[in-house]
Amino acid sequence: MKKIEAIIRAERLQSVQDALDELGVSGLTVTEVMGCGRQKGYTEQYRGSRANISLLPKLKVESVVSDPLVDRVVDAIVGGAYTGETGDGRVFVYDVEQAIRIRTGERGEETVRHETPVGWGY
Ligand SMILES: Nc1ncnc2c1ncn2[C@@H]1O[C@H](COP(=O)(O)OP(=O)(O)OP(=O)(O)O)[C@@H](O)[C@H]1O
Ligand SMILES: [Mg+2]
Repeated sequence: MKKIEAIIRAERLQSVQDALDELGVSGLTVTEVMGCGRQKGYTEQYRGSRANISLLPKLKVESVVSDPLVDRVVDAIVGGAYTGETGDGRVFVYDVEQAIRIRTGERGEETVRHETPVGWGY
């Protein structure tokens, strides 16, 4: 299992979420965050003007997925979040030790496996 963590523009959330839905990810968490990349926030366009602040608002999207889905989830996020401008965001991939569904007590990768098979391969 891996956790895919993406920092994206708020206005790209819907297209990222649509792409993830299409893959059948079993859940996701979205958090409002502040951050900067290598431009340190200063040189980025924000709402039509140059933002003169060191941190810009972004959304953090996290989803824990089974190993075979990792590459497709990363591709889906990159595709959904892309505009081509600086500040499009970053994706980080982490190992996950365990996953538990509280209601049933189920544990393991089965609990995050996608339920509807994707239309191509696997
Ligand atoms: N190394 C990092 N560690 C943690 N968070 C990061 C890191 N780099 C970027 N971020 C987060 O991602 C957000 C978007 O980063 P951003 O897209 O500006 O990255 P970048 O590397 O500067 O790429 P670009 O040159 O395309 O702007 C930042 O506001 C910050 O929240
Ligand atoms: Mg940047």
